[in-house]
Formats: sequence, structure tokens, C-alpha cells
Amino acid sequence: MIEVTEVSKRFGSTVALDGVSLTASAGAVVGLLGPNGAGKTTLVRILATLLAPDAGTVRIAGHDVVRDARAVRQRIGLAGQSAAVDELLTGRENLLLIARLYGLDRAEARQRTDAVLERFDLTEAARRRVRTYSGGMRRRLDLGATLVGRPSVILLDEPTAGLDPRSRREVWEFVDQLAAGGATVLLTSQYLEELERLAHRVVVIDRGRVIAEGEPDELKRLFGGHAGATLDDVFFALTANDA
Ligand SMILES: Nc1ncnc2c1ncn2[C@@H]1O[C@H](COP(=O)(O)OP(=O)(O)O)[C@@H](O)[C@H]1O
Ligand SMILES: [Mg+2]
Repeated sequence: MIEVTEVSKRFGSTVALDGVSLTASAGAVVGLLGPNGAGKTTLVRILATLLAPDAGTVRIAGHDVVRDARAVRQRIGLAGQSAAVDELLTGRENLLLIARLYGLDRAEARQRTDAVLERFDLTEAARRRVRTYSGGMRRRLDLGATLVGRPSVILLDEPTAGLDPRSRREVWEFVDQLAAGGATVLLTSQYLEELERLAHRVVVIDRGRVIAEGEPDELKRLFGGHAGATLDDVFFALTANDA
């Protein structure tokens, strides 16, 4: 469902991605683990057609993100650091706008918007500007926005960053439900226990390169260094040379 092959991206002299390859099959939850600056957001933006790679190819459900960006956009939902809800619009207006961007007609857009507002407990706040929302409400709107177009691939860039434990748990449940519903999820995080809890497979990236990948248990066995190792141990072992 997601096929990333030898993708590189620079910003001036900064190499953000340096030959990254990864795949996610339909229904998989793949975790992208890496420290700040590793290249996670850059990769998510490329997958979401918001940024073109300098080299390499990315296909989503068989569609090339550069040549076939429109088809890709219709299949993905994006939330997190790189997503944008408009502060000046109401929650409802934001969702309607996104629904129209997905190409839904007016009636469908309304129907999907109402369903999402209901599902994320935002019906009462729907006609208030997002500017007035609490952090938790914004996050729910952001997650809800990913579902408006009924995407088959969902990209979540550090969806729990800065959340309190309860909101974080809500995001976890959301990911579980997506997976149960058969969606393919790519999830980035710096929280290791989060990926251990959610991801079927974890790809560790650092300085724009994939440095390890496998099932959480497998990574712990290979790189954890001792019985009972955690994903944190793996993470620190692999990134130990970083400044
Ligand atoms: N638009 C940009 N212009 C210049 N440098 C960028 C830009 N976006 C990202 N970078 C740089 O690319 C590297 C990877 O960034 P990013 O993908 O945001 O990492 P992460 O999401 O893992 O923290 C960092 O060194 C970052 O400073
Ligand atoms: Mg980031």
C-alpha cells in the first residue's frame, strides 16, 4: 500500500532524507521512530504529496506521489505536525472544506462532516471557530479531518506530541480502530512505548537513513542488548553516537 524506494531530499546543504526505503502492506500499522531532525516529517510530507523528493519514488496504492498526486490525495488522510486546520474557520467549516478538497459532492461532504463531528464528540462545538478550541478539541478535529475522505492510507505525524495522558490514550484508541477497520497507517513518534503499543512493524530512522527495522519484539531482541529490553533500549543503542 505504501512503497518508498530510495528517497532522498535535501534542503540547501541539509540532507533530510538519504536513500530511505520502506513498505507498508494493506492493513499494517507501521511506526517510524526517530529523534528530532531524523527526517520523519519530511518523509510524511513527501508521502502526502506536499513535497517532491529529489530522488527515489513513492507509490501509494500503486499511484506515484509526483506523477499521480491527485489520485494519491484522494486515498490518504493526514494529521499531525504538518497538517493544518484553519483557526479562523469553525470546526464544521474546516471539515466541509476538506471534504470538498477530496472531491465529495455537497451532500456527501455534509454527511461525512456530520458523522465525523459526532464520532469525535465535536457536534456541540462545531459552529465555533477553531481559535476557541482547547488543545484536546483541536487534536480531535485534526484526527477527524483525516477520516473525512474515507482514506485507505492514514499518515499521522507525531499525533500525540504534547498531549496529556488521557488525550494520548484517545489517539491510541483511534489508531487501533483504524487498524481494525483495515486502514494502512504510517505513524511517526518519538515516544517509544507508543510504537511498541501500536505498530506491527517499526522503522528506525536517524539522520535521514533507515538504521533498523522489524517487529518491536525482534528489534528488542536484536538491539536491546539484554533480556527484557524495551524499545527505548533499542533506540538509545542505535542512536548512541548522536550528539
Ligand atoms: N523546509 C525546510 N527547510 C530547511 N530545512 C528543513 C526543512 N524541513 C526540514 N528541514 C531539516 O531537515 C531535517 C529533517 O527534518 P524533519 O523531517 O522535520 O525531522 P523530524 O520530523 O524527524 O524531526 C532537519 O535537519 C530539519 O532542520
Ligand atoms: Mg517532525
